[in-house]
Amino acid sequence: MSMDSENLIIDTCHIDDIDIVKHIHEQNYGKVWDKYFFEKMLKETQYEIYIIKSNNKVSGFIAFQGVGNAYELIMIIVDKYYRNNGLGSYLLSEAIRKLKLKGVSLITLDVSNDNIIAQKLYKKHGFVKFGERLGYYNINNKKINSESYKLVNF
Ligand SMILES: CC(C)(COP(=O)(O)OP(=O)(O)OC[C@H]1O[C@@H](n2cnc3c(N)ncnc32)[C@H](O)[C@@H]1OP(=O)(O)O)[C@@H](O)C(=O)NCCC(=O)NCCS
Repeated sequence: MSMDSENLIIDTCHIDDIDIVKHIHEQNYGKVWDKYFFEKMLKETQYEIYIIKSNNKVSGFIAFQGVGNAYELIMIIVDKYYRNNGLGSYLLSEAIRKLKLKGVSLITLDVSNDNIIAQKLYKKHGFVKFGERLGYYNINNKKINSESYKLVNF
């Protein structure tokens, strides 16, 4: 599959998208968030979720939590089948643009220190590392350190 930007659409996640978004999350990340959490994210104003559609099919999503000018990127996932074709980059840049329009001036995130691909994506979009958190993630009972990144002046 090659990326054709004319067939890519970024949209706010709606209630009808939850099943597919939850499926993408589960297939690519495991059962970390349940349906109730996705519904809560749509209802509560401190969350923002955007989806990316490729040829009208939901192929990834990005989620933020925050208030006022400061938001945290809590998840970005592109379905395995669609990866490494620019979708993650497009989704992240459009989400940043939308948050900026809302008055956001600081975006932070934590990423597992072994997730080199995601780190490359974030750095490409101007995020800079500002710290580490020891044992931040607990994956299969294994403590994994995270790297903290921030995006300012965008
Ligand atoms: C991270 C993720 C969202 C990237 O999505 P994607 O659509 O594959 O990303 P893109 O094709 O837009 O690539 C963006 C950048 O990521 C990096 N990248 C993507 N795939 C890569 C690969 N296989 N190897 C090395 N770098 C890669 C590159 O820097 C790339 O930019 P470049 O093509 O200019 O070099 C995707 O890999 C994913 O869903 N991973 C699983 C979930 C996850 O770990 N999320 C982050 C933590 S919440």
